[in-house]
Amino acid sequence: MDFVVKNARIITGAKTFESDIGVEDGKISVVSPNLRASGARAYDATGMIVIPGGIDAHTHMELPVMSTSSADDFYSGTVAASCGGITTIVDFVDPKPEQTMLEAFDDYRRKAEEKVVIDYGLHMMLKAQSLGELDEIPELVRKGVPSFKVYTAYRKRGLMLEDPDILRVMKEVGRAGGLVAVHAESDATIERLIQENVSAGNTGAVYHALSRPAAAEAEAISRVTRLAEEANAEAYIVHLSSRAGKEEVERARSRGADVFAETCPHYLVLTDQVYDRSDGRNFVMSPSLKKAEDCAALWEGLKPGGVIETVGSDHCPFTSAEKDWGKDDFTKIPNGVPGTEAIIPLLYSEGVRKGRISIFDLVRVSSGSPARHFGLDGSKGRIEPGWDADFVVIDPDKRVRMTADTMHTRIDYSIYDHITTEGYPVLTVSRGEVMMEDGNFVGSRGRGRYILRRTAS
Ligand code: URP
Ligand code: ZN
Repeated sequence: MDFVVKNARIITGAKTFESDIGVEDGKISVVSPNLRASGARAYDATGMIVIPGGIDAHTHMELPVMSTSSADDFYSGTVAASCGGITTIVDFVDPKPEQTMLEAFDDYRRKAEEKVVIDYGLHMMLKAQSLGELDEIPELVRKGVPSFKVYTAYRKRGLMLEDPDILRVMKEVGRAGGLVAVHAESDATIERLIQENVSAGNTGAVYHALSRPAAAEAEAISRVTRLAEEANAEAYIVHLSSRAGKEEVERARSRGADVFAETCPHYLVLTDQVYDRSDGRNFVMSPSLKKAEDCAALWEGLKPGGVIETVGSDHCPFTSAEKDWGKDDFTKIPNGVPGTEAIIPLLYSEGVRKGRISIFDLVRVSSGSPARHFGLDGSKGRIEPGWDADFVVIDPDKRVRMTADTMHTRIDYSIYDHITTEGYPVLTVSRGEVMMEDGNFVGSRGRGRYILRRTAS
């Protein structure tokens, strides 16, 4: 054995038990009490909780937005992820105007390969420019990309698809055994409200939120879930932000639609009140933050049987200088916030410790369900012999204030600096190698591997 974790309180699937974990050649070789380390590195986890490494299935590393790119590249973004207990990310390939989806996929592989510190997979953004290339879908599925994201918003950025095109994409992806991720917000409603606000001189960050009401999300979800039913395809509603939106997913599911939702840490712990702060623009992302009652509904949706089956970060941060582009006009603020490092600390501290979810719910939504939905089952998401040795040790008593200094993203502020957590990851292990110990990154650039994801079906 290369590595032994002693006296661990393991949470995996629906089980909890005390045991040691033995690691050999990057895999978990044995889970059993009283293992002898005999020469292997040993880590004493007495008093700690050990859970499977987090799977963040929603990141945007070095994503081109406006005239810049999101601040974290595949190196700094995966360093940050690993320091928060994430051992796998799935990032979204964004084809450039001149690229086919397959060309963009190759480009992302090249970009990511020399930088990633943990394992990664890729989803494909299927924009209007790629509608003539739907025949590439089966090939992309063979290359490990069984998930395609469509947008019902951002017509002006060339991202939005019309409903009949979404239906066509859903049919093609469904036939190939994949799933369709949807950014669900009504473009028409949002664009009209933006126009009205800007014409009235309402240009502060708060008008970003007032232009994106929960109704815009709920309406789009009701449409796309109908389309998914018609296409007989699995739909994944990304970054769910509202109670009204959640109710639409529940309605669709009660009709028998194959749909599940993801939410993000910011929608669970922040409300639209932050837009009144002098740094309100740092909290601008889409969909926008909602009310405390929406946060409560989202926590509820994470419980067993709830429709929110995964928590992803939508990690897409920008520096404060870039956010300042929109200090006098919210339409000029690059949309997106950090989050990959915050998933596990916030689910644990604000969820488990505050009694909103159980530790089993945390494990299910941060690793078990993402592994199942995104074609990683068999290697990721469990602490069992034969699985990759990806796990996180949480010290339930460690308090960390989530400031710009304690976070590892490249940006110069933290949207969580008012939060001091109760409990925090103290060790992250990826395929048997320690990535983070006591808040310090100790892994190495480029060691992460591309994961050939399979279709869940
Ligand atoms: O505001 C968000 N969600 N930013 C992420 C990047 C994008 O445009 O989807
Ligand atoms: Zn996103």
